[in-house]
Amino acid sequence: MNDVLSRRALYNRISIAGVALASVVVSVPIIGYLLSPFINKQERVWQDVGAVDQFKLDTTVQVNLQDPSPLPWAGETALTSAWLRRTDSGFIAFSIHCTHLGCPVNWNQGGQLFLCPCHGGVFNAEGQPAGGPPQRPLQRHDVRVNGSRVEIRPVPLRVRG
Ligand code: FES
Repeated sequence: MNDVLSRRALYNRISIAGVALASVVVSVPIIGYLLSPFINKQERVWQDVGAVDQFKLDTTVQVNLQDPSPLPWAGETALTSAWLRRTDSGFIAFSIHCTHLGCPVNWNQGGQLFLCPCHGGVFNAEGQPAGGPPQRPLQRHDVRVNGSRVEIRPVPLRVRG
């Protein structure tokens, strides 16, 4: 009888230890993911997107960028883009991500609108919400002219709120 009880107690302890080990194995990556924005401060860097002369006045074109906050294993998915407009007073760079849920918006030159294909979000030419679910304007990236080159310093993606 004592052997049965002690064997049962041993199995209970092994089970508890197994559950505790499994909990640690599952929770460590989750906690690391949740804390990573506080631990890994992202360095925002200027990225060359082309020569000043290649951008025509009053046109909005798509330019390629590296995601400003890529995960170490992101690979090709760290490639993103932005909408760049040349104006009389300089350049404006809009994030390509809709502020509703982050889908890439398209520029419609005829309508002078940014259109989101996911849920019908619409932004005016200044990136202000003009229809559909988005409540906040498109994010703007920093832009500068460095010599004869245009450079963008992208802001990290922020959606919903
Ligand atoms: Fe653009 Fe929903 S993600 S409207």
